[in-house]
Amino acid sequence: MTLEPKVYIVGAGPGDPDLITVKGLNILQNADVVLYTDSLVNDELIARAKPSAEVLKSAGMDLDEMVALMIDRVQQGKSVARVHTGDPAIYGAIMEQMSLLKGAGVSYEIIPGVSSVFASAAALQAELTIPELTQTLILTRAEGRTPVPDLEKLTDLAKHNCTIALYLSATLTKKVMGELFEAGWTADTPIAVVQRATWPDQKIVRTTLGELDNAMREHNIRSHAMILMGWALDPTLVDQGGHRSKLYDKEFTHRFRKGVSSNV
Ligand SMILES: C[S@@+](CC[C@H](N)C(=O)[O-])C[C@H]1O[C@@H](n2cnc3c(N)ncnc32)[C@H](O)[C@@H]1O
Repeated sequence: MTLEPKVYIVGAGPGDPDLITVKGLNILQNADVVLYTDSLVNDELIARAKPSAEVLKSAGMDLDEMVALMIDRVQQGKSVARVHTGDPAIYGAIMEQMSLLKGAGVSYEIIPGVSSVFASAAALQAELTIPELTQTLILTRAEGRTPVPDLEKLTDLAKHNCTIALYLSATLTKKVMGELFEAGWTADTPIAVVQRATWPDQKIVRTTLGELDNAMREHNIRSHAMILMGWALDPTLVDQGGHRSKLYDKEFTHRFRKGVSSNV
């Protein structure tokens, strides 16, 4: 497979090297240059680059260095795989890279990846949208050093009572609790924290809103964690057998199946 001389922004997935897409893996295996986020992307995956590839870590580089390097290699006629953790569209800081690449006339393409929110849901064997309980998932972060726009404060988002996934918030759980209580969430609301989802040392902690901060301290979770909150995380749902979706209901007709109406 010969790649065009351009930048391929590839989602590596959450950690397990098998969770990259087939397209992303093809690009990784054929790129002339691989530039990857070494703090979060699995080295086992990067080891699949072709032997002649120039493999570089991005953690020690600033934005200008990183982009200058990509521009230089593409101008030499090389293909560059810029490998990001999870899906590049979520907290991937790719817009600033694309903006500089575009300014330099360098083309780029994005290959999506499995975001840690979905790897965490899989690890928990959870469905994040449960019929009649919640049909909405909010992906966000608690406000720390990085400001969150006024209209997106956690207290306001939480008023929807839906499932909330918090990225980048492991050290901010006290604040998270305060904001959710302010929104009317109760202390017994189920919460699941997955640290390093899909890595060999993955850790799962199930707790409640009232105990969240204590649980984070007790299990020493301060980074690399996905916090999933709301009643869809109730571990007893699967045993309750309720909350059935319309999709598989006997009486529900849709494009691919005619339902059996009790009136016929
Ligand atoms: C800079 S963001 C990148 C998110 C990434 N683009 C994604 O789609 O998952 C890093 C945050 O993502 C979450 N994260 C990334 N990988 C994770 C994993 N394997 N397990 C749990 N959380 C993870 C954590 O909240 C971490 O603080």
